[in-house]
Amino acid sequence: MILLTGATGTTGSATVAQLRRTGHPFRIMSRDVGRAQAQFGHDLDYVEGDFARPESLDAAFAGIETLSLLCAFSEGMVEFELNAVEAAVRAGIRRIVKMSAIGAAPDAPTTIRRWHGVIERRIDESGILRTHLWPNAFMQNFRRFAPLIRERGEFYAPLGDARVSLVEIEDVAAVTVAALIEDGHEGETYEITGPEAVSYAECAAILSEELGRQVRYVSVSDEEARAALVEAGIGPEAAQALVEIDGLFREGFGAPVTDVVERVTGRRARDFRTFVRENAGLFR
Ligand SMILES: NC(=O)c1ccc[n+]([C@@H]2O[C@H](COP(=O)([O-])OP(=O)(O)OC[C@H]3O[C@@H](n4cnc5c(N)ncnc54)[C@H](OP(=O)(O)O)[C@@H]3O)[C@@H](O)[C@H]2O)c1
Repeated sequence: MILLTGATGTTGSATVAQLRRTGHPFRIMSRDVGRAQAQFGHDLDYVEGDFARPESLDAAFAGIETLSLLCAFSEGMVEFELNAVEAAVRAGIRRIVKMSAIGAAPDAPTTIRRWHGVIERRIDESGILRTHLWPNAFMQNFRRFAPLIRERGEFYAPLGDARVSLVEIEDVAAVTVAALIEDGHEGETYEITGPEAVSYAECAAILSEELGRQVRYVSVSDEEARAALVEAGIGPEAAQALVEIDGLFREGFGAPVTDVVERVTGRRARDFRTFVRENAGLFR
């Protein structure tokens, strides 16, 4: 049996939809099963579980062979996911597919990559078979710009003219599903990117063409970006960690393009224009 954690979130919900279509049995863990049932329907299998409460994980992980490990990015993430790895060891789970981030390492110079690196290291030491998923930034992050694009025709980020190989979550989900249901992905670390590296000015041009009205990208300072994230309710440490990623991108770290999506799924990764077309209603 496969257990999906983080299933009700951005990539998790795409994974649920795709895994459902394969016909493989799976179970969804959520802190709030009623909410998850309202989201996905009553015909799926659910279990209550909270990474913050290890005893709830012992019950949720019983009888599970393959664990999809994903937690929302938050200041408690390392503790939460380490709780899950310990519970996976206790439950005798055979395989973990871990949602991580590109460049993860315990000694990485930026917070998010370091947090994921610490969790990956513990999984590697546990002896459990594992696949580490290293997606680049999600195209779906543009959803947080949607109100500004709708209201002002502008969006703001501290990216300068950096290029980033943004990836669509449907592609991240497709790689996740392959790693969950197929053999042969164990031991792999998959750098999941889109098919091209785009600058935010190019994204603005694509948005303008697809929406039929002018959309402008405004590059802002790290300090302005951090203040906006904190104002939007993100904790100061998490806001700092997100701004650090943009700094790395300015150094070109986010630009490499890989063929992982095509190699693993047999389909070309989606480009930003397709993402905008499929989500145009959000930005209009
Ligand atoms: N955004 C990007 O560009 C990007 C790029 C690369 C990697 N990533 C990585 O992707 C991950 C985030 O993925 P996402 O955006 O799909 O996540 P998300 O939508 O923010 O949330 C995922 C889920 O985490 C679950 N969760 C939160 N706290 C929990 C807890 N205490 N116990 C159990 N479950 C908990 C929630 O499930 P319930 O509420 O149902 O319990 C939630 O649905 C992070 O690891 C991030 O570093 C993101």
